Amino acid sequence: MEARSREGWGTRLGFILAAVGSAVGLGNMWRFPYITADRGGAAFVLLYIVMVFVVGVPIMLAEFGVGRRARLSPIGALRTVGGPRLAGLGYLYVATGFLILAYYSVIAGWTMRYTLEALLSGFTRSPSEYFEHTATGTGAVLYHIVFMAITISIVVGGVKRGIERASLVLMPVLFLLIIGLAIWAAFLAGSGAGYSFYLRTDPAKLLSPDTLSAAAGQAFFSLSLGMGAMLTYASYLSRDENLPASAATIAVSDFGVAFLAGLVVFPVIFAFGLSQEIGESALGALFISLPRAFIGMGAAGRIVGLVFFAALFVGALTSAISLLEVVTSSLIDNWRLDRGRAALGAGLVIMLIGLPCALNQDILGLFDQIAGEFLLVVGAFALALFVGWRMSDPLGEVRRGFASEGLLRGWLWIVRIVAPIILAVVIYQKGRATWELLRTTLF
Ligand code: PFF
Repeated sequence: MEARSREGWGTRLGFILAAVGSAVGLGNMWRFPYITADRGGAAFVLLYIVMVFVVGVPIMLAEFGVGRRARLSPIGALRTVGGPRLAGLGYLYVATGFLILAYYSVIAGWTMRYTLEALLSGFTRSPSEYFEHTATGTGAVLYHIVFMAITISIVVGGVKRGIERASLVLMPVLFLLIIGLAIWAAFLAGSGAGYSFYLRTDPAKLLSPDTLSAAAGQAFFSLSLGMGAMLTYASYLSRDENLPASAATIAVSDFGVAFLAGLVVFPVIFAFGLSQEIGESALGALFISLPRAFIGMGAAGRIVGLVFFAALFVGALTSAISLLEVVTSSLIDNWRLDRGRAALGAGLVIMLIGLPCALNQDILGLFDQIAGEFLLVVGAFALALFVGWRMSDPLGEVRRGFASEGLLRGWLWIVRIVAPIILAVVIYQKGRATWELLRTTLF
């Protein structure tokens, strides 16, 4: 467990783009537009922004602080700064990483298949049949395996030559694709109706604790918090990096992409009169309604479909890389495996755990609920309490390079009081929903 030979980022931009790559993914381009439309439009967006900046950014900073101080992946880092009992939280993080990547890779496999379909033949078949055909069975298994193989091959390359290099290429590509799509969508005939559906305000929906927990859960998932991804990436940072500025940059970029995705999805759906389909299912909105619209556009639809699903695939890939890196770096730090074996071994096990998700969408939904919705907030809650009340001199770790002492004190009180209170409400809500789903799926 020595820090001497530890890998590190080559440049500050490399770290930022890798962390933005972890944050920006399926959560932004698929989950965010859907949840916003479902939960009250513009009012929900405001609540979401509050969650991202008042709770998400402070928790990210807490993860950064622990990771950089210990310069180890979650298990070793939490043991180093918090003693042997806290290592248990590190194990929870690694387990959460296993579970999330297992189903995330299955959905990412679908995006890969859709990208290839657009490239090779255009969307020609009935979208709902095509989705059924893609989402479960041997095809889903095959693309899941190929997606994991790509992810493994990048993580095997290491922090600088694998993850950083991939992020430096892929993230600018993703930004260009999504900005291009949003500009194109603005000129569609249905854009006005799409925007007003996306951002119509329904403040009544905001008052339920359910909406609060949806906004918080979405913020944590989207920012990759609560399972040590940001902690691990910060463990490769140099001592002089300005952590608050990095956290703010990552959060702004992540929100920007999510918001832009909504500005693409809704105009497209409205331009083709498919709005009645939006409420039907979250997955359907993306994988069925959009292809239907792309078919309606003829040749242009094929290009736009290609760009859209390619952007989704790129986002999913850079997020999957960070999930696999959490597990890989833990195997390297704790069990002294070499990187190649660690990434390959972890990747193969995750591939196997993901198989039931590729064969059955109910199981996929269950994994998402347990790990993506519930365990992340539990992980963030425990970390906030530790950093706020037990860690020695947390301010010392995040202060470097940052001038405002007032903001830093505000950060500490958010981590101590505000975040734990909000997270306790969210854990209660999500705990109940998770239990309900477990009961109905398994019994
Ligand atoms: N942030 C990713 C997304 O929005 O798709 C998902 C994710 C990646 C969650 C990494 C958690 C994580 F550690």
